Amino acid sequence: MSIELEKENSAHAAIEYVEDGMTIGLGTGSTAKYFVELLAEEVAEGLVVRGVPTSEQTRRLAESLGVPLVDVEQVDRIHLTVDGADEVDQHANLIKGGGAALLREKIIANASDLMVVIADSSKYVEALGKFPLPVEVTPFGYTITAKKVYDALCKASVLKPMIKVRTGPGHKPIVTDGGNFILDCQCGTIPDPAKAAAMLANVPGVVEHGLFIGMARTVIIGAEDGATVFEY
Ligand code: A5P
Repeated sequence: MSIELEKENSAHAAIEYVEDGMTIGLGTGSTAKYFVELLAEEVAEGLVVRGVPTSEQTRRLAESLGVPLVDVEQVDRIHLTVDGADEVDQHANLIKGGGAALLREKIIANASDLMVVIADSSKYVEALGKFPLPVEVTPFGYTITAKKVYDALCKASVLKPMIKVRTGPGHKPIVTDGGNFILDCQCGTIPDPAKAAAMLANVPGVVEHGLFIGMARTVIIGAEDGATVFEY
C-alpha cells in the first residue's frame, strides 16, 4: 500500500515540471500511470499539452483519459519526458524495460530536453543489477544473440549472467511493440554500467538494452509523506 502511495507522490512532484504548451513524453508502467492520470486532471482543468506515448499501453491509457496525443513523426521537440524505472543508482543511471517498452522509452527520453524519473523508494539502489536487465533483440537468431549478450556482459565484468527469453502465455516469447523479443539478463551486480551498455550496443541482433546511462537529469523518489528530488 505504501509503495503505491510513494509512486503516486513521486508522480505528483513531477507535475511541477509541466508547463502550458509542452510536448511531453509519457512513460510506461505503474508509476508513469499515476503521472498520466494526474496530467489528465490538469488537462481537464485547461492545461494545454501534447503527449507522446512510449508504448501502446500508455497510448490507450492517455486516450481513454482525454490527454491529447501527437504522432511521434510529427514532433520536432519534446520538452519533457516523465517515466518510471526498475532501478536507479546514485548517478541517475537506470535499468528500464520491466514493462518491455524500453526501445520507445529510450528513443523518446533521448529526444527530450529533460527526462524526469519517478519511482518509489524500492527502486533506489546502490548498484544496478539485482533487477534482471532487459535486452530487446530481433526474433531472428535470438538464441545466437543471447550467447553474444552473455559474452558482452562477461566482458563488462558481470559474473555469470543468467539469460532467459521473456515468455508469456503458452511459454511463447513475448513480442514487444516493435515486434522483437526480450532477453532478461540476471546480473546480480553490474559493476560498470557504462561499459556494459557499450558492449551490449555492439552485439548484432540487439535492438536496444535497458541501461539508461546519463539520460535522467532529475530523479524523484516518492515517500509516504511526499517526495525527494535529486538533480544531476
Ligand atoms: C517499462 O518498460 C519500464 O521501463 C517501466 O518504466 C519500469 O518497468 C517501471 O515500471 P513500474 O513503475 O511499474 O515499476
